[in-house]
Amino acid sequence: MRTQVAIVGGGPAGLLLSHLLHREGIASVVLEGRDRAYVEHRQRAGMLEQGTTDVLRESGAGERLDREGLVHHGLELRFGGAGHRIPITDLTGRTVTVYAQTEIVKDLVALRLADGGDVRFEAEVLEIDASTPGVTYRQGGRTRTLECDYVAGCDGFHGVARPAVPGLRTFSREYPFAWLGILADVPPSTDELIYAHHDRGFALHSLRSPKVSRLYLQVSPDEDLASWPDSRIWDELAARLAADGGWELRQGPVTDRSITPMRSFVAEPMRHDRLFLAGDAAHIVPPTGAKGLNLAVSDVTVLARALTERYASGSEALLDSYSATCLRRAWRAEHFSYWMTTLLHVDPSADGFARRLQRSHLDYVASSQAAATSLAENYAGLPLDG
Ligand code: FAD
Ligand code: DHB
Repeated sequence: MRTQVAIVGGGPAGLLLSHLLHREGIASVVLEGRDRAYVEHRQRAGMLEQGTTDVLRESGAGERLDREGLVHHGLELRFGGAGHRIPITDLTGRTVTVYAQTEIVKDLVALRLADGGDVRFEAEVLEIDASTPGVTYRQGGRTRTLECDYVAGCDGFHGVARPAVPGLRTFSREYPFAWLGILADVPPSTDELIYAHHDRGFALHSLRSPKVSRLYLQVSPDEDLASWPDSRIWDELAARLAADGGWELRQGPVTDRSITPMRSFVAEPMRHDRLFLAGDAAHIVPPTGAKGLNLAVSDVTVLARALTERYASGSEALLDSYSATCLRRAWRAEHFSYWMTTLLHVDPSADGFARRLQRSHLDYVASSQAAATSLAENYAGLPLDG
């Protein structure tokens, strides 16, 4: 069997790439190792940059996003018992939108199938040949080969695409903490996201809808979920999010919980021969800056444009600049995510000097328009080719 672009991985990167290529008349096959229900319900990101919503909307994938996405114009930094609003739209002219990754994945799967797209679930890619090129995969107990012109490695951090690039250089940071995330059936206690720094650790109050809250707690990297009954989670969230003046955290039934390790990671280059890496396959950021999904979307937007030019005119110029274009943006997101993470978390090894510098930094961001603007423009996302 043969196609133009073989896409390894049916997460947001792979599905959106397939959709964008289809709009340009380019055929692809998406091979996803897990089943459809699993990829549609895996709880992850929730905050979309304006550039991400623009791409989804302009490609015809924004119908439900426009109806159900919650447009936000600011966020709150909370520390020392007080809230400090960062007015993102006033400072940048841009907005951000709360719309869960699970919903983007559901929308894209439904669209691909409605358009006659070839998305194969429970099809695990075993091997990638970047020069012939082609991929070998196993589905329903049988091993098959898919030949193609190009391979897109959109298979996340633990996939097989990155190891298929010889001579990669990798850059990484581990952090001495992880995030415990919950989804709860309770109306959010806030209209805008709250990023809280507290001596007990970082906490984030996000949301999914007017009836569903999403919250995160900094925990240690080896934390056991079993030692976090609901009551302990809510007590800890309430302590870290506490503010002077009687703000209260509403509590409700927890419907999903997980612990996510935090790391920064970049692989260079993002291309080998006819294999292109995109999204988490090439880079990981700690979630504090809400950048991972947005980077995956910008990578595949750049890749779809490059492949479109290649098929339309024969020119490989955009394919040749793909890795450098994406890495420029990825490194900006890496820096911002590292910066937000170190600004807001408690490093158990920090001494008194480091703690006071951190507090001074928080005071500065909360009180200086220049510093707040820097946070806001990175959070809302820089223009795609900037
Ligand atoms: P993935 O979503 O990992 O998809 C890769 C797919 O490839 C998977 O479906 C996997 O099953 C499949 N696969 C793997 N190996 C194979 C194989 N051998 N064969 C076939 N298929 C394979 N980002 C944001 O932008 N904003 C946020 O607010 C945000 N919050 C986050 C909160 C949490 C708790 C976490 C964990 C992440 C968050 N992120 C956020 C990051 C975001 O979820 C990821 O960056 C995003 O999922 C990357 O998409 P992807 O398609 O590149 O990779
Ligand atoms: C969400 C996750 C993030 O990492 C973040 O910075 C903001 C929001 C979320 O899941 O809603």
